[in-house]
Amino acid sequence: MPDASPAKWHLAHTTWFFETFVLTEAAPGYRPFDPRFGYLFNSYYNSVGAQYPRPRRGVLTRPDLDEVRRYRARVDEQMEALLTAASKEDFESWWSVVEIGLHHEQQHQELLLTDIKHLFSCNPLEPAFHEPHDEPVSEPLPLNWHPYEGGVYWMGHDGSGFAYDCETPRHEVFQHPFEIASRLVTNGEFLAFIEDRGYERPELWLSEGWTVVNERAWKAPLYWRREDGRWRVFTLGGMKDVHPAEPVSHVSFFEADAYARWRGALLPRESAWEIAAADLPVEGNFVESERYHPAAAPADGSAGRPLQMFGDLWEWTASPFLPYPGYEPPAGALGEYNGKFMCNQFVLRGGSCASPRAHLRASYRNFFPPDARWQFTGIRLARMRS
Ligand SMILES: [Fe+2]
Repeated sequence: MPDASPAKWHLAHTTWFFETFVLTEAAPGYRPFDPRFGYLFNSYYNSVGAQYPRPRRGVLTRPDLDEVRRYRARVDEQMEALLTAASKEDFESWWSVVEIGLHHEQQHQELLLTDIKHLFSCNPLEPAFHEPHDEPVSEPLPLNWHPYEGGVYWMGHDGSGFAYDCETPRHEVFQHPFEIASRLVTNGEFLAFIEDRGYERPELWLSEGWTVVNERAWKAPLYWRREDGRWRVFTLGGMKDVHPAEPVSHVSFFEADAYARWRGALLPRESAWEIAAADLPVEGNFVESERYHPAAAPADGSAGRPLQMFGDLWEWTASPFLPYPGYEPPAGALGEYNGKFMCNQFVLRGGSCASPRAHLRASYRNFFPPDARWQFTGIRLARMRS
């Protein structure tokens, strides 16, 4: 699949990041592990050099895994030596790049899982990545609405702890009064959309979405399969029945948008999502739970606030990925990290069951093109209040 990369490539690329942006810059006379790796494992940094095309990463049978592991071990060793021997001044000047490198590696830990899931889903043997826990799934909770006042709010990162450049500057937004759904849209609710011929009704779809649905013959979320008259779903634990209380996952922005329209609701703008999440603890179903699958909203977890805002599934917002007022990408190659993707992508919020918990915060902005379905993506509804 052109958007996905082999596991081995992710391992090498995250190491290439440290080698290129720290060791080559900071360690005098540093000699790369293999100078040819720069071309293979540079993802998209044009100012660093040309790149091997992403859609063809899957055909790279060399370097093999053992060599990639040696590459990682060698760069880890050199990084440790560099940071251990560094003066306080040098350490501080490199730290910001090292920190980006660590958060970058967390992003690729998530991509490893989503890319493996897609790869395994293409295999008729339906391999399982792990043995799933046998957990009872609760009954679907009713969907409630949490109201928020309109007015001027602050959004963006407040400066405490790490954030990516695209989360800044913190700035004011004027927000119309809104309500946000108490939980994610469930499989059962999405099934009602399918059964109401949701995929066949052009009036529910954005023009581009309608084209995509027809060209790709979408009839259901990415990993759903109809078997003997019932819906089954491919997961990292293998095939299982679609459970009505679990959140619907692996939907595109187009499907999320069409579903919201069918339901007489909206997708939240990213400002509304951030306002609703601002005071919530970063708690939920993350990669650390080792479920690698979204969980049904817990019946006892509400306490008057929206559930599943963090973890489970990335939530599509109605907001295009654009620079905040006053945004400037960082100088140098790392300015290519986020800023150059601010075109034709939508913002997703909250993290997923494949995200490390420490990677997330209320101001975090993920982004994908509107037809992307292989990430752990779901639907949170919103409504305007009068
Ligand atoms: Fe990367």
